Amino acid sequence: MRQKIVAGNWKMNKNMEDGQALTSEIVNMVGDELRDDVKIVLCPPFVYLTALKGIVKENKHISLGAQNCNEHASGAYTGEIAAPMLTAIGVQYVILGHSERRELFGESNELLAKKINIALEHSLTPIFCCGEPLQIREQNTQEDYVGKQIQAGLFHLSPEAFSKIVVAYEPIWAIGTGKTASTDQAQEMHATIRKQITEKYGEDIANNTAILYGGSVKPDNAEELFSCMDVDGGLVGGASLKSRDFVDIAKAFQSSR
Ligand code: 13P
Repeated sequence: MRQKIVAGNWKMNKNMEDGQALTSEIVNMVGDELRDDVKIVLCPPFVYLTALKGIVKENKHISLGAQNCNEHASGAYTGEIAAPMLTAIGVQYVILGHSERRELFGESNELLAKKINIALEHSLTPIFCCGEPLQIREQNTQEDYVGKQIQAGLFHLSPEAFSKIVVAYEPIWAIGTGKTASTDQAQEMHATIRKQITEKYGEDIANNTAILYGGSVKPDNAEELFSCMDVDGGLVGGASLKSRDFVDIAKAFQSSR
């Protein structure tokens, strides 16, 4: 059975005090409310990770993730954060290839392939983001577009390395817009991604790869999205900044699969 994951991408939000309070609330809520096989990943800004580790401790539901890492292990890269630095403070996941990184910071598929390698070398689980802009969706060429992102970012990996990857499909037109992909649109793309993985790595690996959906996931649409056969959870932006909403999204698995 593949892992069910709800990851919160805080982006560049919250101050330290609010971030700690949010984390404490989530820790308290999940203890009583969450199904055993659902994993939560909190991805705050880098500077809060150590403090939040102290709050999350060894909670069996909750792990910490970073929102990015550099493609090198160390060196003269002023202002950057390296994968082994994250591993050393107890971080287990890293979001790579978010559309905001691709669009605002010019991250290419080639660069992302290097970041994926360094993350895996240092025992971080990459959450690899892919997704098309509105213009591509309007031309109905999204399968090709996302297929190329996956191929260029991930398909250099050995089967063993690929089996550690989490994929997140985030259509750019649904991020922060309140416009969610319909369940049909989400399921269709997730199935296409899984088929592509099957063709490259075989059924076993494809069936075990968690593919998350991201883009305006909210408590009132999570259950429907998570009931899709190939949707294994969510990468949540805005709604991850409110403890009740975020935990309710994670609880949407209770009543679905
Ligand atoms: P929203 O949930 O705010 O649309 O953000 C999605 C996202 O970008 C998560 O990485």
